[in-house]
Amino acid sequence: MYPSRKVKLGVLVSGRGSNLQAIIDASEAGRIDAEVVIVISDVADAYALERARKHKIDTAFVDPELYTMQKDFEKAVIDILEKYEVDLVCMAGFMRILSPYFINTYRNRIMNIHPALLPSFPGLHAQKRALNHGVKFSGCSVHFADEGTDTGPIIIQVVVPVFDDDTEETLAARILNYEHQIYPRAIQLFAEGRLEVRGRRVFCKKSEKERRDEKEGWVYINP
Ligand code: GRF
Repeated sequence: MYPSRKVKLGVLVSGRGSNLQAIIDASEAGRIDAEVVIVISDVADAYALERARKHKIDTAFVDPELYTMQKDFEKAVIDILEKYEVDLVCMAGFMRILSPYFINTYRNRIMNIHPALLPSFPGLHAQKRALNHGVKFSGCSVHFADEGTDTGPIIIQVVVPVFDDDTEETLAARILNYEHQIYPRAIQLFAEGRLEVRGRRVFCKKSEKERRDEKEGWVYINP
Protein backbone atom coordinates (compact mmCIF):
# COMPACT_ATOMS: atom_id res chain seq x y z
CA MET A 1 0.00 0.00 0.00
CA TYR A 2 1.29 3.46 -0.89
CA PRO A 3 1.76 5.46 2.31
CA SER A 4 -0.12 8.73 2.48
CA ARG A 5 2.71 10.36 4.38
CA LYS A 6 6.46 10.40 4.03
CA VAL A 7 8.38 7.50 5.48
CA LYS A 8 10.37 8.64 8.50
CA LEU A 9 14.02 7.66 8.37
CA GLY A 10 16.41 7.31 11.28
CA VAL A 11 19.97 7.15 9.98
CA LEU A 12 22.76 5.51 12.01
CA VAL A 13 26.26 6.78 11.27
CA SER A 14 29.81 6.64 12.56
CA GLY A 15 31.83 8.63 10.05
CA ARG A 16 31.94 10.83 7.00
CA GLY A 17 28.28 10.45 6.00
CA SER A 18 28.36 10.65 2.22
CA ASN A 19 25.53 8.10 1.98
CA LEU A 20 23.57 10.13 4.52
CA GLN A 21 24.13 13.14 2.27
CA ALA A 22 22.84 11.23 -0.77
CA ILE A 23 19.69 10.31 1.16
CA ILE A 24 19.15 13.88 2.39
CA ASP A 25 19.66 15.23 -1.14
CA ALA A 26 17.21 12.72 -2.63
CA SER A 27 14.67 13.61 0.03
CA GLU A 28 15.04 17.36 -0.41
CA ALA A 29 14.80 17.02 -4.20
CA GLY A 30 11.56 15.04 -3.81
CA ARG A 31 13.09 11.94 -5.40
CA ILE A 32 12.08 9.78 -2.43
CA ASP A 33 8.89 9.81 -0.37
CA ALA A 34 10.94 9.78 2.79
CA GLU A 35 12.58 12.26 5.14
CA VAL A 36 15.44 11.95 7.57
CA VAL A 37 13.99 12.84 10.97
CA ILE A 38 16.96 11.90 13.15
CA VAL A 39 20.64 11.06 12.65
CA ILE A 40 22.24 9.04 15.44
CA SER A 41 25.99 8.57 15.79
CA ASP A 42 28.13 6.44 18.07
CA VAL A 43 31.07 8.78 17.38
CA ALA A 44 30.90 12.28 18.89
CA ASP A 45 32.68 14.15 16.10
CA ALA A 46 31.44 12.17 13.09
CA TYR A 47 31.28 14.50 10.10
CA ALA A 48 27.88 12.99 9.28
CA LEU A 49 26.45 14.89 12.27
CA GLU A 50 27.73 18.13 10.79
CA ARG A 51 26.03 17.32 7.48
CA ALA A 52 22.73 16.69 9.25
CA ARG A 53 22.94 19.94 11.21
CA LYS A 54 23.54 21.89 7.98
CA HIS A 55 20.16 20.60 6.83
CA LYS A 56 18.49 21.35 10.15
CA ILE A 57 18.01 17.68 10.90
CA ASP A 58 18.02 16.61 14.55
CA THR A 59 21.07 14.68 15.69
CA ALA A 60 22.00 12.55 18.66
CA PHE A 61 25.28 11.14 19.91
CA VAL A 62 24.89 7.96 21.91
CA ASP A 63 28.17 7.31 23.71
CA PRO A 64 28.92 3.58 23.72
CA GLU A 65 31.38 4.09 26.57
CA LEU A 66 28.51 4.88 28.92
CA TYR A 67 27.13 1.37 28.59
CA THR A 68 28.71 -1.88 29.68
CA MET A 69 26.05 -3.98 27.98
CA GLN A 70 25.43 -3.74 24.23
CA LYS A 71 21.72 -4.11 24.90
CA ASP A 72 21.67 -0.95 27.00
CA PHE A 73 23.46 1.02 24.30
CA GLU A 74 20.96 -0.27 21.75
CA LYS A 75 18.03 0.49 24.07
CA ALA A 76 19.21 4.11 24.20
CA VAL A 77 19.29 4.21 20.38
CA ILE A 78 15.87 2.55 20.10
CA ASP A 79 14.38 5.02 22.60
CA ILE A 80 15.44 7.87 20.31
CA LEU A 81 14.17 6.10 17.16
CA GLU A 82 10.82 5.52 18.89
CA LYS A 83 10.59 9.11 20.06
CA TYR A 84 10.94 10.19 16.41
CA GLU A 85 8.47 7.49 15.26
CA VAL A 86 10.99 6.16 12.76
CA ASP A 87 9.59 3.77 10.13
CA LEU A 88 12.88 2.70 8.56
CA VAL A 89 16.35 2.59 10.10
CA CYS A 90 19.18 3.20 7.61
CA MET A 91 22.69 2.19 8.58
CA ALA A 92 25.05 4.40 6.62
CA GLY A 93 28.64 3.74 7.59
CA PHE A 94 27.57 2.69 11.09
CA MET A 95 30.47 0.62 12.39
CA ARG A 96 28.56 -1.71 14.70
CA ILE A 97 26.85 -5.06 14.39
CA LEU A 98 23.35 -4.93 15.82
CA SER A 99 22.26 -7.58 18.29
CA PRO A 100 19.17 -9.80 17.84
CA TYR A 101 17.38 -7.49 20.31
CA PHE A 102 17.75 -4.51 17.96
CA ILE A 103 17.14 -6.54 14.80
CA ASN A 104 13.92 -8.02 16.20
CA THR A 105 12.66 -4.61 17.24
CA TYR A 106 12.95 -3.38 13.64
CA ARG A 107 12.90 -6.68 11.69
CA ASN A 108 12.89 -5.98 7.91
CA ARG A 109 12.89 -2.27 8.69
CA ILE A 110 16.68 -1.83 8.91
CA MET A 111 18.72 -1.30 5.76
CA ASN A 112 22.48 -1.31 5.36
CA ILE A 113 24.79 -0.46 2.48
CA HIS A 114 27.94 -2.42 1.81
CA PRO A 115 30.71 -1.63 -0.72
CA ALA A 116 30.96 -5.12 -2.27
CA LEU A 117 28.85 -7.64 -4.12
CA LEU A 118 27.57 -9.62 -1.17
CA PRO A 119 27.98 -12.35 -0.07
CA SER A 120 31.55 -11.67 -1.21
CA PHE A 121 33.73 -9.57 1.07
CA PRO A 122 31.46 -8.84 4.03
CA GLY A 123 32.89 -6.83 6.91
CA LEU A 124 35.69 -4.28 6.95
CA HIS A 125 37.93 -3.13 4.07
CA ALA A 126 35.72 -4.74 1.43
CA GLN A 127 37.16 -2.75 -1.47
CA LYS A 128 40.77 -3.51 -0.54
CA ARG A 129 40.04 -7.20 -0.08
CA ALA A 130 38.19 -7.40 -3.42
CA LEU A 131 41.12 -5.71 -5.16
CA ASN A 132 43.72 -7.95 -3.50
CA HIS A 133 41.67 -11.02 -4.32
CA GLY A 134 41.87 -10.12 -8.00
CA VAL A 135 38.17 -9.95 -8.80
CA LYS A 136 37.33 -8.32 -12.14
CA PHE A 137 34.02 -6.99 -10.88
CA SER A 138 32.94 -5.77 -7.49
CA GLY A 139 30.06 -3.48 -6.62
CA CYS A 140 27.74 -2.49 -3.83
CA SER A 141 24.71 -3.94 -2.11
CA VAL A 142 21.80 -2.55 -0.15
CA HIS A 143 20.32 -5.20 2.11
CA PHE A 144 18.07 -5.62 5.10
CA ALA A 145 20.14 -6.09 8.22
CA ASP A 146 19.98 -9.34 10.13
CA GLU A 147 22.01 -10.65 13.06
CA GLY A 148 25.11 -11.37 10.98
CA THR A 149 27.76 -9.16 9.44
CA ASP A 150 26.36 -7.97 6.08
CA THR A 151 24.40 -11.21 5.72
CA GLY A 152 20.79 -10.01 5.46
CA PRO A 153 18.43 -10.30 2.45
CA ILE A 154 19.72 -8.33 -0.54
CA ILE A 155 17.52 -5.58 -1.99
CA ILE A 156 19.62 -3.99 -4.77
CA GLN A 157 23.10 -4.61 -6.13
CA VAL A 158 25.18 -2.86 -8.74
CA VAL A 159 28.16 -4.44 -10.49
CA VAL A 160 31.20 -2.18 -10.79
CA PRO A 161 34.27 -3.10 -12.87
CA VAL A 162 37.75 -3.35 -11.38
CA PHE A 163 40.50 -1.96 -13.61
CA ASP A 164 44.13 -3.04 -13.80
CA ASP A 165 45.42 0.27 -12.51
CA ASP A 166 42.91 0.56 -9.67
CA THR A 167 44.04 1.34 -6.17
CA GLU A 168 41.87 0.85 -3.11
CA GLU A 169 40.99 4.54 -3.32
CA THR A 170 39.99 4.62 -7.01
CA LEU A 171 37.91 1.46 -6.69
CA ALA A 172 36.24 2.73 -3.50
CA ALA A 173 35.39 6.03 -5.20
CA ARG A 174 33.88 4.25 -8.25
CA ILE A 175 31.77 2.04 -6.00
CA LEU A 176 30.74 4.94 -3.73
CA ASN A 177 29.24 6.77 -6.68
CA TYR A 178 26.82 3.86 -7.15
CA GLU A 179 26.17 3.51 -3.42
CA HIS A 180 24.78 7.03 -3.52
CA GLN A 181 22.38 6.01 -6.27
CA ILE A 182 21.10 2.68 -4.96
CA TYR A 183 20.53 3.62 -1.32
CA PRO A 184 17.87 6.25 -2.10
CA ARG A 185 16.42 3.87 -4.71
CA ALA A 186 16.03 1.08 -2.13
CA ILE A 187 14.45 3.53 0.31
CA GLN A 188 11.94 4.60 -2.34
CA LEU A 189 11.00 0.96 -3.06
CA PHE A 190 10.35 0.57 0.67
CA ALA A 191 8.36 3.82 0.76
CA GLU A 192 6.20 2.60 -2.10
CA GLY A 193 5.54 -0.63 -0.19
CA ARG A 194 6.99 -2.69 -3.01
CA LEU A 195 9.50 -4.81 -1.09
CA GLU A 196 8.60 -8.22 0.23
CA VAL A 197 11.04 -10.44 2.12
CA ARG A 198 10.55 -14.16 1.65
CA GLY A 199 13.26 -16.05 3.49
CA ARG A 200 16.58 -14.82 2.13
CA ARG A 201 15.05 -13.28 -0.99
CA VAL A 202 13.62 -9.81 -1.44
CA PHE A 203 10.93 -9.54 -4.11
CA CYS A 204 10.04 -6.24 -5.68
CA LYS A 205 6.47 -5.67 -6.81
CA LYS A 206 5.80 -3.72 -10.00
CA SER A 207 5.08 -0.05 -9.60
CA GLU A 208 1.52 1.27 -9.91
CA LYS A 209 2.47 2.81 -13.26
CA GLU A 210 3.85 -0.47 -14.56
CA ARG A 211 0.66 -2.29 -13.53
CA ARG A 212 -1.53 0.40 -15.14
CA ASP A 213 0.49 0.33 -18.35
CA GLU A 214 0.29 -3.45 -18.56
CA LYS A 215 -3.50 -3.33 -18.34
CA GLU A 216 -3.45 -1.00 -21.33
CA GLY A 217 -1.23 -3.40 -23.23
CA TRP A 218 2.11 -1.64 -22.79
CA VAL A 219 5.06 -3.92 -22.23
CA TYR A 220 8.46 -3.00 -20.89
CA ILE A 221 11.44 -3.64 -23.11
CA ASN A 222 15.08 -2.79 -22.66
CA PRO A 223 15.92 -0.88 -25.84
C1 GRF B 1 30.41 3.17 2.65
O1 GRF B 1 31.37 2.67 1.75
C2 GRF B 1 29.42 2.11 3.02
O2 GRF B 1 29.15 1.22 1.99
C3 GRF B 1 30.09 1.41 4.16
O3 GRF B 1 30.76 2.41 4.87
C4 GRF B 1 31.03 3.50 4.01
C5 GRF B 1 30.39 4.71 4.64
O4 GRF B 1 30.68 5.88 3.92
N1 GRF B 1 29.13 0.67 4.96
P1 GRF B 1 29.89 7.20 4.23
O5 GRF B 1 30.05 7.46 5.73
O6 GRF B 1 28.45 6.99 3.87
O7 GRF B 1 30.55 8.26 3.41
